[in-house]
Amino acid sequence: MSGVPNRAEAALAGRTAGSADRRPHTAVLEPGRDAVLEPGRARPAGRPWIDDPYARALRAGRGPLFLRRLTTPDRPDDAVGEGDLLPLDVERWCAAPDAADARVLDRCTGPVLDVGCGPGRLVAALAARGVRALGVDVSPAAVARTRRGGGAALRRSVFDRLPGEGRWGTVLLMDGNVGIGGDPVALLARLRAVAAPGSRLLAEAAPHDVDEHLTVRVEDAHGRHGRPFPWARLGAAALCRAAGAAGWTVAGRWTARDRTFLELGRPLPGQRTAPPTAGGRRERP
Ligand SMILES: C[S@@+](CC[C@H](N)C(=O)[O-])C[C@H]1O[C@@H](n2cnc3c(N)ncnc32)[C@H](O)[C@@H]1O
Repeated sequence: MSGVPNRAEAALAGRTAGSADRRPHTAVLEPGRDAVLEPGRARPAGRPWIDDPYARALRAGRGPLFLRRLTTPDRPDDAVGEGDLLPLDVERWCAAPDAADARVLDRCTGPVLDVGCGPGRLVAALAARGVRALGVDVSPAAVARTRRGGGAALRRSVFDRLPGEGRWGTVLLMDGNVGIGGDPVALLARLRAVAAPGSRLLAEAAPHDVDEHLTVRVEDAHGRHGRPFPWARLGAAALCRAAGAAGWTVAGRWTARDRTFLELGRPLPGQRTAPPTAGGRRERP
């Protein structure tokens, strides 16, 4: 990310935040560490989503593409070639929003921050509805595709400083993105700081009852792969627990097209947070 914001970013930053948001990035928050690092300090090696084959798949608009679960999370380099494959739904991400996405979009009140927006189908759909929305993603291919589709997007890690911190009306964490950084409580705590008091976070849970912290890499059908990185997969119950630990309340849960979603609320100052349950208010599928 260059220090010069593009037009879309500048416009959105101007509308959602004050000039303080345009300060250079002098601090970063790393997942799993509630600490501010000094500029220039070494970051963890590897920028996995930036590598091929993810970029190649996004440019083509299709997979097959997978996360390979590495069998030895502590020593990922020893695990090359082992582990099973978790399919990534590149075609759906590159298509127009489906009915399940539409239910998410209906709940969005602007401004909306789509964390790990990928090729940007939700950001573009929100823009088409006249809702202010910004996607953030570390992948240049994802940001380029989002912009081509008519959405505003910023190439940046969610753990770096973002425009409009503390002012976003809705934060989106779709398509398994609660796995970003491999430490869901740290990610959800980070997003609590990004979201406005009284705002909501719409998060997609894994369809099964899992609570998995793993090391993975992106891999295509020919075995071409990027670097190993930490990831997490959380079903609804685990996501509720992580949300509670990060200071969110669970306001709702629903299923659409075999996908499970949670609505989390960022309490207003002084508002009591209810203990997390396995799903909050359940709604009709
Ligand atoms: C599972 S894919 C989700 C795709 C996306 N939601 C979509 O609609 O296509 C994860 C996305 O998160 C992005 N990502 C990974 N780490 C990130 C980070 N630290 N900050 C922002 N985005 C990140 C990846 O580049 C990738 O596009």
